Amino acid sequence: MIEFRNVNLDYPGHAAALSNIQLFIGKGEFVYLVGQSGAGKSSFMNLIIKRHLPTQGEVLVGGVPLSRYRGAATAGLRRQIGMVFQDNRLLPHLNVFDNVAFALRVTGVPQREWQTRVLGALRTVGVEDKRTAWPLQLSQGEQQRVAIARAIVGEPLLLLADEPTGNLDPENSREVVKVLQHVNLRGTTVLVATHARELVESYRHRTITLRQGRLVRDDPHGGYQL
Ligand SMILES: Nc1ncnc2c1ncn2[C@@H]1O[C@H](COP(=O)(O)OP(=O)(O)OP(=O)(O)O)[C@@H](O)[C@H]1O
Ligand SMILES: [Mg+2]
Repeated sequence: MIEFRNVNLDYPGHAAALSNIQLFIGKGEFVYLVGQSGAGKSSFMNLIIKRHLPTQGEVLVGGVPLSRYRGAATAGLRRQIGMVFQDNRLLPHLNVFDNVAFALRVTGVPQREWQTRVLGALRTVGVEDKRTAWPLQLSQGEQQRVAIARAIVGEPLLLLADEPTGNLDPENSREVVKVLQHVNLRGTTVLVATHARELVESYRHRTITLRQGRLVRDDPHGGYQL
C-alpha cells in the first residue's frame, strides 16, 4: 500500500528531516508512527499525500510512484486517502451531518447517496445521534470522532491520522483508537502518528520509530520505545 524507497527529505534551511527511509506497509495494516517532536512524523505523512516531494528516493502508494502523479491525478490520489489531524478542523458553521457530507462533495459520490453514506460513517464512529449538533456543542472526543467520520466517508483505502488524540483525555483517546481499529478491521490501512505511549502499549500494533529523521525501529509486535 505504501512504500518508501531510500527516501530523503530536506526542507529549505533544514537538511535531513527524513534520511534514507526504507519501508513497506501492506494493505490492511494498522501501524503507529512514533518519535519525539521534530523526529519527522508529520513530514512522513506529508510525503504520502504528496504535500512535499522527497529530495531523493521515491514514495509509492498502491504500487504507483507518486512522482508519476500530476495535477488532477494528484487530487484523485488524495481522494483515496483520509486524513485526521490533531486539531480536528471541523467547519464551525456546519452541523455534524454537513461537515461529513461536505467531504463527499469532492469524491464524485452521487448526491442521492450522500445521506446513507454520511449516516453510515457517523454510525461507525458512534456519533449518529449528534448529527444535527454544531461542532462547538460536542466534546473534544466527539469532535474527533466526527473528524474520523469525515475522513472515512469517502471509503478511502488509506487513513492517515496525525496525533488524533493530541487534545484528548485518556478515555477519549482510547475511544478514538478503538474507532480507528474498527475502521481498520473493515479493510482500511491505518497509519497513526502519536506521542501517546499508553495507547501504543495497550493497543499493540506494528510500531515504527523515527529519531531525528531516521527510522530506528520497526517492531511488528509494537510497544513504545524512543
Ligand atoms: N516546512 C518546513 N520547513 C522547514 N523545516 C521544517 C518544515 N516542516 C518541518 N520542518 C522540520 O523538519 C523536522 C521534522 O518535522 P515534523 O513536523 O515532521 O516532526 P514531527 O515528528 O511531526 O514533530 P511533532 O511531534 O512536533 O509534530 C523538524 O526539525 C522541523 O523543524
Ligand atoms: Mg507532527
